[in-house]
Amino acid sequence: MATIWPLLLLLSVIFTAEAQQAEQPVIRRGSLLIPTGTNSSWLSRSGLYAFGFYEQGNGYAVGIFIAGIRNKTVVWTANRDNPPVPGDVKLHFTSNGRLVLQTAQGMETGIAGNTQGAAAASMLDSGNFVLYNSDNSTIWQSFDKPTDTFLPGQKLTTDEDMFSSYSATNQSTGIFRLIMQQDGYLAMYPVGTPPRLEYGYGGVGVSGEGPNVSLNFDADGRLYLLNGTGISIMNITKGDTTKGVIYRLTLDPDGILRHYSHNMDQNGVWNVTWSNPKDKCDPKGLCGINAFCDQDAGCECLPGFKRVNKDSWASGCERNFDSKCCKSNEAVTGYTMETELRTEWQNDSYSILTSPLTQEECGEACLGDCNCEAALYKDGKCMKQRLPLKFVRRNLSDSSVALIKVGTSPISPDPGVPKESKKKNRVDILIIGVSLLSFACIILVVSGIVVYKYRVWLYRNISNAL
Ligand SMILES: *[C@@H]1O[C@H](CO)[C@@H](O)[C@H](O)[C@H]1NC(C)=O
Ligand SMILES: *[C@@H]1O[C@H](CO)[C@@H](O)[C@H](O)[C@H]1NC(C)=O
Repeated sequence: MATIWPLLLLLSVIFTAEAQQAEQPVIRRGSLLIPTGTNSSWLSRSGLYAFGFYEQGNGYAVGIFIAGIRNKTVVWTANRDNPPVPGDVKLHFTSNGRLVLQTAQGMETGIAGNTQGAAAASMLDSGNFVLYNSDNSTIWQSFDKPTDTFLPGQKLTTDEDMFSSYSATNQSTGIFRLIMQQDGYLAMYPVGTPPRLEYGYGGVGVSGEGPNVSLNFDADGRLYLLNGTGISIMNITKGDTTKGVIYRLTLDPDGILRHYSHNMDQNGVWNVTWSNPKDKCDPKGLCGINAFCDQDAGCECLPGFKRVNKDSWASGCERNFDSKCCKSNEAVTGYTMETELRTEWQNDSYSILTSPLTQEECGEACLGDCNCEAALYKDGKCMKQRLPLKFVRRNLSDSSVALIKVGTSPISPDPGVPKESKKKNRVDILIIGVSLLSFACIILVVSGIVVYKYRVWLYRNISNAL
């Protein structure tokens, strides 16, 4: 009798596994979702994950979110850069096996790229949404197309990347990029810059391990790098065997890569278990152009600039004064240089004055050149630059001084005449009076002489005539 127990145990394990597979909710062709009501999403077996509509801005987006916790967390978004859709759209798993969003006017947008001929779909408990063909093979899965979040079970291989979201409530593409590089490093860059060291701001990896290094994530929360032959080369976070904890790795809107854990109890919240980089000002371009990041104050505009967008720093700052256009290299009046100490930026100067200059001379050089809009002064060198200024940050260990050309405000016209000029007016009147008097005197003297000479002439003529 004792020998039968292990067999029963084995059978029960097999049956449970099979039952679980069978229980994966299968979504068939002809299924439909609408943005509101109970038919707005398809749940995974345990109800932890959901695929479907969620509220976004003044409409809806389609994606995957963690539905089993109090604060629903979006982990994937379809067509993330499309505007939110109105409440009268339908998500349709068509009879020819396409997953499409249909507007009331009949416009269609593919949700899983251009995938066609899917026989079934399923929202898995791992957070992966999968489309199968009639042979039950996976033909599309959300795990292959991460947006800003990476989940246990997912794999990021060479040249694959993720992009941060615009904000916590708007999942459209933000300003940071994470990439699994050829050289084996998992690195981060501002969007729109080439993956070169000078633009990178964070990351992890082991030197000399590329190519084909991959980022992996286990259900116990362990995040690690495997080399091309599948050998573990680096553990980024440790695994935790505590049950009832879920994990995610997100490239957040502020450019920081965070590993989060969440306890499944009622009052669970997302805890940060690991993050990179540690310095919040490290992500290059966090404050946008013409703005700088300060450890304590966060983002600020440079002197003479104002914010472009009140909701996001991504668009940076613009001038708050009119700048005159520059036709030649002439000096333009109406400007002054403002100073920001211990500030550095991406050096993109068009002219570098190297003969040792003082800070004042550097400022004068920029003022005297209408092409110059800012100058970086460091160790006697003066680097003249045009706008926009990129990746500006305060660096307390740096001796650089930022000199910014700022327009002087025009003198406001004063309606009352100031005392100074009244006094001046009196002096003017006095001078004019004296002048007039002198002129009169001269006329008097001259006319006196003329009259005398005339009389003398008249006298002579008369005497000659006599
Ligand atoms: C992976 O690491 C192992 C152990 O260090 C090494 O033997 C193997 O050659 C590496 N594979 C690649 C593709 O570098
Ligand atoms: C990472 O952790 C795993 C499991 O604890 C271990 O097997 C592996 O050797 C570790 N890798 C490295 C590079 O330390």
